[in-house]
Amino acid sequence: MEKEFNVTGSCNPQKHYMVDIAHKFDEVMKLIEKGKYFTINRPRQYGKTTMLNMLFNNLSKNEYLTIFLSFEGVGDIIFENESAFSAAFVRMFLRELNSLSQKITDDFSKCALNVSNLETLSEAVSIFARELGKRIVILIDEVDKSSNNQLFVSFLGMLRDKYLRRDRGEKTFHSVVLAGVYDVKSLKLKIRKDTETKLNSPWNIAADFNVDMSFNPAEIKTMLVSYAKDKKVKMDLNAISNRIYYYTSGYPFLVSKICKNIDEEEAGQNPDFNPKHWRLEDVDWSFRWLTRPMYTTTNFDDMIKNLENNKDLFALVRAVSVEGKEVSAAADNPVVNLGITYGILSANEDKIVVSNRVYEQRIATYMQSKQETSELKDCS
Ligand SMILES: Nc1ncnc2c1ncn2[C@@H]1O[C@H](COP(=O)(O)OP(=O)(O)OP(=O)(O)O)[C@@H](O)[C@H]1O
Ligand SMILES: [Mg+2]
Repeated sequence: MEKEFNVTGSCNPQKHYMVDIAHKFDEVMKLIEKGKYFTINRPRQYGKTTMLNMLFNNLSKNEYLTIFLSFEGVGDIIFENESAFSAAFVRMFLRELNSLSQKITDDFSKCALNVSNLETLSEAVSIFARELGKRIVILIDEVDKSSNNQLFVSFLGMLRDKYLRRDRGEKTFHSVVLAGVYDVKSLKLKIRKDTETKLNSPWNIAADFNVDMSFNPAEIKTMLVSYAKDKKVKMDLNAISNRIYYYTSGYPFLVSKICKNIDEEEAGQNPDFNPKHWRLEDVDWSFRWLTRPMYTTTNFDDMIKNLENNKDLFALVRAVSVEGKEVSAAADNPVVNLGITYGILSANEDKIVVSNRVYEQRIATYMQSKQETSELKDCS
């Protein structure tokens, strides 16, 4: 199958030109081998699901039993009560096991016969983990879609309690990996409705996730090497990788998008383009094409939605980008932290900056237009 650059959904090495993320993968594997519970918390389209897929494919070949769950699109009904949630969890778990082995599926079915709430679900997990004799790793994607939900938070609390008791011999999941934009560790919610309001994180056992998921120029080069070889395209690989990094700061979606534009769109737009020889000017063209004011894509839509939905964040981004104000990089300041969480801002030494030149350009166009339309309102 002919490969292409991918900008929609997770990447598949059979179908897509990809940056080699082996180093990142090794770092994540170390956390799993150590039995850590953690969240891959990174902005939208930052390679989270691609990483989970890679973990799933590799862990399953080793001594782990790996379950990959996503709560995306499961509907609200399962969150109505503990019984519905526990039953749904068992169903999802069985569905995943079913694709692995009939025997393991039957074993879990037996353990889960009496599951009717989180407590009995917890017991079923313990019995299953003890009898299986294999380490179980659970990967849960799109946790943001559920983490505003009390029951999901209680479920995380259940996992935490089991984690805390494993030193006392309780069997549970060896490692739990969540993926989402927010750091679930910092969720501050009450654990149980029926007890006093307890400000507590359901996930305060989670290890920090410090793996750099952005692509450095050397990593970007790995994708260009496979493309250039495959399509017999000439280019100065180091110079082009550096130029792509210059515009994107290694944001995975933007890196793939810049390349896709050149590969698939430039020929139709730029008469000077030679598809068999990429030059630095082509990267410049791709940047201009991506930031043209009347083009948008879900990644930009999300960024703008985040600015429109939070006045403080809007003011901060405007101060940094338009007014050139210096703002300290302080992760303890919630609005600064939020800007970084969304991938709009990043820390450059001890100051806050817009995280890449593509966003800088998009934000400049957006802020100018907002200014123009607000002046219209002032005149009326
Ligand atoms: N290894 C890679 N090589 C090249 N591009 C990549 C790679 N990983 C991710 N990307 C780019 O990032 C995009 C998003 O990838 P993925 O769906 O894995 O991210 P995500 O963080 O799960 O996104 P979302 O927040 O939307 O769930 C891909 O469509 C692709 O453009
Ligand atoms: Mg994803």
